[in-house]
Amino acid sequence: MNNPYEKEFFGKLESGVMRPGGLRLTDKLSQKCQFSEGASLLDIGCGTGMALEFLEKKYGIVGTGVDISKVNIEKGKKRNPKINLIVGDGTKLDFPTDAFDGILMECSLSVIGNKDSVLHDIYEILKPGGKFIITDIYLKTCYSGNNEAEKQDIIRASDKKTSTAGSKQGNSSYPHCLRGAFEINELIRTMESLGFKIIDWKDESEELKKFAIDIIMEYGSLNYFWKQFATCENKEIGNIKGVKLKQYGYFSMIAEKPEY
Ligand SMILES: C[S@@+](CC[C@H](N)C(=O)[O-])C[C@H]1O[C@@H](n2cnc3c(N)ncnc32)[C@H](O)[C@@H]1O
Repeated sequence: MNNPYEKEFFGKLESGVMRPGGLRLTDKLSQKCQFSEGASLLDIGCGTGMALEFLEKKYGIVGTGVDISKVNIEKGKKRNPKINLIVGDGTKLDFPTDAFDGILMECSLSVIGNKDSVLHDIYEILKPGGKFIITDIYLKTCYSGNNEAEKQDIIRASDKKTSTAGSKQGNSSYPHCLRGAFEINELIRTMESLGFKIIDWKDESEELKKFAIDIIMEYGSLNYFWKQFATCENKEIGNIKGVKLKQYGYFSMIAEKPEY
């Protein structure tokens, strides 16, 4: 198994979503966007499609989910054959220009990588006036945006500690969200340069804490979480102590593609 997000562990997390904040955060952000009934929403890196299923039921949106994991897409289709879930690569989106009223990326941009090109494609396929919701990990000590040396230290420390936990695809570790943690000012600059207008940004780090505490309460430590990123080739996994999560924050952001 190369994709850790296919493991049973992730399916058992709060409301079946694989990240901090659960459906509570999805709901809060969707309410801010005021999607109308029938609005078309694309969820990139949708996992098993829990968020879309929830939004379809609660707000009558029409969802499309894309995830690289065939296993998770099949799980989602089995749970609810009515949701439109597609196996696909978020770095190779193939949708028409101005196709969606809203796009969600909940803890998936950091995992998928190729940020600039993915953001460019998202801008293209959002309708003018459409909203883009992101929730993801950021590097807390870099929030001021002027602490490059410290940022590099954190990235190195995280790599060192998690590379033994990262499952291997060939010679490269499977990417997980901490590896892709954003420098928030840089992310905002990139998005604005593409034309997005940032209409909401919020620190959601309490959700990350809650996520970690829930895992510790259930499994005794975070080691069990890191183990999910190991493969059978990686025998060192028992030695993982995990990373210092306090270096990381969680954020939510809503960006708009302005009307012409
Ligand atoms: C942390 S999980 C988040 C899943 C979901 N958004 C949620 O909130 O539960 C990251 C997801 O990104 C998916 N993923 C990783 N690389 C991808 C890619 N290149 N294209 C599409 N999905 C990808 C993984 O399979 C996984 O389901």
